[in-house]
Amino acid sequence: MCGIVGYVGRKCAQPILLEGLKRLEYRGYDSSGLAVIHHGQLLVHKCPGRISVLCDHLADDAVTASCQIGIAHTRWATHGAPTEENAHPHSDCKNRIAIVHNGIIENYSALKQLLIEKGHHFSSQTDSEVLAHLIEEFYYNNGTKSIEQAVQLALREVTGTYGLAVLCVDEPGKIVAARKGSPLIVGVGADEYIVASDASAIVEHTTNVVYLNDGELAVLNSDGMRTLTLDNVPVTKQVQQIEWSLEQIALNGFEHFMLKEICEQGEAIRNCLRGRLDKRENRIQLGGIAAISRELVKTRRLILTGCGTAWHAGLIGEYLFEDLARIPTEVEYASEFRYRNPIIDDGTTVIAISQSGETADTLAALREARQKGALALGVVNAVGSTIARETDAGVYLHVGPEIGVASTKAFTAQVVVLALMSLYLGRRRFMSETMLQHYIDALERIPEQMERVIQQSAAVKMVADQYADCDNWLLLGRGYNYPVALEGALKLKEISYIHSEGLPAAEMKHGPIALIHPGMPVVFIASRCSTYDKILGNIQEVKARGGTVIAVATEGDTEIGKFAEHVFYVPDAPAPLQPLLNVVPLQLLAYHAAVARGCNVDKPRNLAKSVTVE
Ligand code: AGP
Ligand code: GLU
Repeated sequence: MCGIVGYVGRKCAQPILLEGLKRLEYRGYDSSGLAVIHHGQLLVHKCPGRISVLCDHLADDAVTASCQIGIAHTRWATHGAPTEENAHPHSDCKNRIAIVHNGIIENYSALKQLLIEKGHHFSSQTDSEVLAHLIEEFYYNNGTKSIEQAVQLALREVTGTYGLAVLCVDEPGKIVAARKGSPLIVGVGADEYIVASDASAIVEHTTNVVYLNDGELAVLNSDGMRTLTLDNVPVTKQVQQIEWSLEQIALNGFEHFMLKEICEQGEAIRNCLRGRLDKRENRIQLGGIAAISRELVKTRRLILTGCGTAWHAGLIGEYLFEDLARIPTEVEYASEFRYRNPIIDDGTTVIAISQSGETADTLAALREARQKGALALGVVNAVGSTIARETDAGVYLHVGPEIGVASTKAFTAQVVVLALMSLYLGRRRFMSETMLQHYIDALERIPEQMERVIQQSAAVKMVADQYADCDNWLLLGRGYNYPVALEGALKLKEISYIHSEGLPAAEMKHGPIALIHPGMPVVFIASRCSTYDKILGNIQEVKARGGTVIAVATEGDTEIGKFAEHVFYVPDAPAPLQPLLNVVPLQLLAYHAAVARGCNVDKPRNLAKSVTVE
C-alpha cells in the first residue's frame, strides 16, 4: 500500500532514505519514520503527518545523519490511527531490532496474544509490530544463528501480505528484506544497496535492480547481496535495467492514475476482502463492527449518507440492506441531511460513506446524526481520517490511496463493504448458512471476474472514440443497476464534460424520452436478471426513436446483440454483486471518452479530490 526504503552502503543513509520517502509519498502518507544504527544502538524517529514533518524533525540531528545504514517508511495506516506510536519503524522489547512493513498481517491478533503471554510488551495498535517481536522471539529467545534465519522463521508463522525490511544492532551492517503480496525491489549500486517498494525511490541512484518474488528474502550488506527463500533455498536473481521515468514509475506504466486505479480494482477488492471471508467457519468477519454487533443487529432503521460516488454506493447499499438483511434503509445526500431536520430515534443507525473521510458535507451529516442519538458507523478508506475518528465503529475499505479525482476503486470497495455488512447482519437476523455460503463464494470470484472485464478496455475504447463527440448521453438501469447508471453518468460528466443523465430505465417514458434523437448514445445496463425482459422493452423504445444503444450485458446472452449496436459482456454474478462488474465498462468508457476529447483525466476542471468545504 505505501512505501518502504532501506539503504546500506558507504554513503550517509539519511538523505537517500528521506528522498526515497518523498518519491514514495504518492502511495500514501499519514505518518513516516526512519531507523539507523549508530555505534551499536538503534536510533528511531517517527512523526505523524507528511514526510516534510520528519525532514524538519531530523534537520539538526547530525548523529542520525552520519549513519550509513537505515530503513524508512511512509505509512498508509490499516491498523491503528496515524499517530507517532503507530508510525513505523517498530522495535522489539529490547530496542535491538527495527522493522518497516507494508501490507497487512492477518493473524496479528492471535500472534500478539501469544507474544504477550511470553512476556513481550507492545507499544502500538498496528498489526506490523508483531513482526518485530516475533523476530525477537526467534533471535534472542530461541537462539537462531542469524537475523535472516529469525526473519524466515517469523514469516512462516504469518498470514497476510508484507514488504518488509529489518535491521538488528547485533548484525549492524545488514538489512534483511522480504516480500509477499507487497512489492519490493533492490537497487544494486557500487558497494551499496537500496531496497524499496518501487523503483521511484531507486532510479536516482541506480538503474540496476533485482525484483524480489513472493516468498523471497534478500540479505544486503555493503559487500554483497544474497537472495533466498523462506525455506532457506538460495535463489539466483538477474540484475535488470529500469527504463522508466519517475512519473511513469509512479503510474506503474499507466497513462493516468484513473486508468491505473480502474485496472487495479481486482487487486484492490482482494485487499478489501482479505481476512473478511471466513470459509472454514462460513461467516463474515468484520473486526471494526464486532464490538457493537449485538446493538447493530437490533437496529430498526438504517440511513446511509455520502456525496457523489459515495452516495451512489449508498443507493446500492439500500438495496443490499433491505434485500439481504431485511432492515428498512434510506439513503440521504449528506449535503441535504442536516437541513431537513431528519427524524432519528434510538433505533436508527447512520452509516457515513466516504473515500477520503474528510468530506465536509458528510462530516456535518454524521455530526447531526450523532447529536440526535443515532449509532454512527463509517465506511471509509482513509484510516484515522476525521469521519473514521468521529464514528462509533466502522469498516475500512483497505484499497490504498485513490489519487485520480474520479473515484473508481473506492466505489467498488464501498459496494463490497456494504455487501459484507448486509451479509454480516443478514446472517445474524434470518439468512440461512447455505445462502451466506452462496454469497461468500460469489464474492471470492469477483476480483478475477473484474480482471476479465478490464481486459476489454481496448474494445470499450473503440466505442468511446466513436461517440466521444456526442454531447448528450443517457444511461439506464433497473434495480441494483440503477445506481450503476448514475455512477456511469457521473464519471462521464466529471472527466469528459459530456452531459449525461443516469435514470431508472422505466422512468424514461415519463419524460426523458423526449430527449432521444437519432444517433444519441443510450447506455443500458441489461444484466440477465428478473427485469431483463423489461429492459429489452426499453431498448426497443429507444431504437424506435433512432437512439444508438450501447449495452452492458451478461456473458452468454445471445439475445441482446440483436437489439444493441455495441455490447460489453461481463461475467455473471448474483444480482446484489452484479454492479461491481457492470460499473467497470462504464468507468472505462468515461476514461477513454475523456482521453479522446483531450481532457485532463486526473485533474478535471473545477474539481478537487477531497471537498472539505460545504
Ligand atoms: C467521485 O468521482 C467524485 N469526485 C465525488 O463525487 C466524490 O465521490 C465525493 O466528493 C465524495 O468524496 P468522499 O468519498 O471522499 O467523501
Ligand atoms: N498494516 C500496517 C499498519 O497499519 C502497514 C500499513 C502500510 O502498508 O503502510 O501500520
